[in-house]
Amino acid sequence: MDDPYQVQESLSKLKEEFEIALAQANTAGEVELVRVKFLGRKSPLAAHLKQLGVFPPDQRATVGKELNVLKTTFENKVDEKKQARLSQSVLPAVDVTLPGLVHPLGRLHPVTQTLQRLLDCFRPLGFEVVEGPELDYEFNNFDALNIPRDHPSRENFDTFFVDAPSPEPKKGKLLLRSHTSPVQIRVMQSRKAPLRIVVPGRVYRPDPLDASHSFMFHQVEGLMVDDRTSFTDLKGVLAHCLQRLFGPSTKVRFRPHFFPFTEPSAEVDIACTGCKGSGCATCGRKGWLEILGCGMVHPNVFRAVGYDPRRVQGFAFGMGVERIAMLTHGIRDIRLFFDNDLRFLSQF
Ligand code: DAH
Repeated sequence: MDDPYQVQESLSKLKEEFEIALAQANTAGEVELVRVKFLGRKSPLAAHLKQLGVFPPDQRATVGKELNVLKTTFENKVDEKKQARLSQSVLPAVDVTLPGLVHPLGRLHPVTQTLQRLLDCFRPLGFEVVEGPELDYEFNNFDALNIPRDHPSRENFDTFFVDAPSPEPKKGKLLLRSHTSPVQIRVMQSRKAPLRIVVPGRVYRPDPLDASHSFMFHQVEGLMVDDRTSFTDLKGVLAHCLQRLFGPSTKVRFRPHFFPFTEPSAEVDIACTGCKGSGCATCGRKGWLEILGCGMVHPNVFRAVGYDPRRVQGFAFGMGVERIAMLTHGIRDIRLFFDNDLRFLSQF
């Protein structure tokens, strides 16, 4: 086909065919087939372009130009049709009269929220959050904490022992920790003072389930050790955090108590959140609510972890998270936390 007139004729035929084929293409796939047929490597247009060389130079330019114009026309039309199909296929699918999709928002469990608020009180004071295992050794849970062998909390009634051989018999039997205090031991064994840690976690006790007891609950433990930390620091830190939690005018009182792992020891009360101290059912008419236990770390505990009690001193404390959540929200029954009833949980 070396006659420019013949080429022109065949091109106008090609154009007609293209128009018809494109008009008949109804889906994106069909449009693509048209593109391949008229613009692909095996298309008549491509064949023409390859044969350009057979024309004398003066005609080559004219024919070449025509071929390119046609090619651009085809490309534009195919693109247009593709765009049109795209917008047509998307638009009718959106029915604006349908009700919108509602994505229900989840929330954190009230115990988690309380836990986070508690940790947020201590973090700005330089306390690092550390965790430990729920399965621990008798040594960490009791011996190292200066809880003597004949102490009543050793008995099976107060601790879940695990019926499995201990991987480290020297550390005693395996048990589900009954408090977070064993993490004090683990941390002091692996690090040197100074230390400032708070330890959130689950603890287990075989108590019969009732409104204020659960066999699993959460505690936050605290430990601060260096060469000068005193009972005054303990009072300052705890009063600051309790007032941050329960309000700046909350009255805090320290009452002498006994814990084997601290000396001296204290229990800390806040003025009752229900009656502000005058006496009500929440506080059993006492006007005060017990919030946590604390004290100065006992020298025997330091000895058990290899610290020299003449060189270090510090305080420790421990509190129940569910109890604090119950007091802040006026919840009367600890079991509500574990029933997973959305009518309860969605209120927080
Ligand atoms: N471990 C104690 C408990 O579970 C709470 C506690 C009291 C922790 C005094 C301490 C502390 O670190 O110093 O009842």
